[in-house]
Amino acid sequence: MASIKICSAYLGAKEYMEPLKNEVGGILDIHGQLILSSAPAIEAFWALNIWQNPIALEIDSINDGAKKLKAIQCNWCLYSYQLHRRAKLIQEKLPHVSAKPLTFPCSPPSSQLGSWTLLEQNQILVASQCSSPFPNGEAVFEEDKEGPPSRAYLKLYEALTRMERFPQPGDFCIDAGGSPGGWAWAMQKLGARVLSVDRSPLDPKIMSLPNVVYRKGDAFALQPSDFDQVDWLFSDVISYPEKLFDWVSTWIDSGKCKNFICTIKFQGNPDYGFVSKFLEVEGSKVAHLYHNKHELTWMHTAG
Ligand SMILES: C[S@@+](CC[C@H](N)C(=O)[O-])C[C@H]1O[C@@H](n2cnc3c(N)ncnc32)[C@H](O)[C@@H]1O
Repeated sequence: MASIKICSAYLGAKEYMEPLKNEVGGILDIHGQLILSSAPAIEAFWALNIWQNPIALEIDSINDGAKKLKAIQCNWCLYSYQLHRRAKLIQEKLPHVSAKPLTFPCSPPSSQLGSWTLLEQNQILVASQCSSPFPNGEAVFEEDKEGPPSRAYLKLYEALTRMERFPQPGDFCIDAGGSPGGWAWAMQKLGARVLSVDRSPLDPKIMSLPNVVYRKGDAFALQPSDFDQVDWLFSDVISYPEKLFDWVSTWIDSGKCKNFICTIKFQGNPDYGFVSKFLEVEGSKVAHLYHNKHELTWMHTAG
């Protein structure tokens, strides 16, 4: 392996390594959740963090490792899969990177954060350019144990933070598949007005919040012609990606809504290829968020 150049590396989520392995070409090795590839970096949906143009460096000692990292840039995040103690000692000699949970709403961390790992006792792999601003792609937020009825709001926090765009006070949001109400809770807290549509009811404490209206039924029956203007369309509906795409397409074509966050859910052994349809919508991003399960998140703002 030493003679073949590592051109990219992908850190995946522990439970979703298989779809990531299917996306990445030229796999040389897999260390824990880190896939090393001989091919240039691609925008792999299932990666938590993509290491671009990593380089392998020989180090003589712990001090030398820290010195070489600091010579490249200031902020580094360790991904440790072996030789943990030695790796930790190197990391401790580097400038401290805050691991404090983020307080929503907030911007993503702005300082350039590189990633590194210890490949061997005397060899490190370093990437100064990584796709995620969060350490190892982990977007960790301060949690609210009282307000929301489920932890689903964390994926909405993460998507909005990545978009660097938030519902504003008074904005009108459609919350498709909103039960029990984690997303509705987060939108309402930002001051938005929420129409939550689900076959199942919202948690009573969400139902009674001001500016939250619940409608029982099929979310896909909602049509743009029923509304004058919608500021945000959110969907966390459990459905086939094709069905979701057809529905959101009618909204995009109508021009009545500018901002979209939808989870694309998968069951069994799905064809992930269909996801590219969502990306074809100009101004779209698709990613496996840290808080996603077997699903991807489509984020879109019309220009
Ligand atoms: C993952 S849960 C949503 C969690 C929610 N976002 C939250 O924050 O609490 C998915 C929801 O989709 C709803 N659902 C599935 N098919 C639906 C449909 N066609 N119309 C409306 N809701 C649907 C289910 O009843 C379920 O409550």
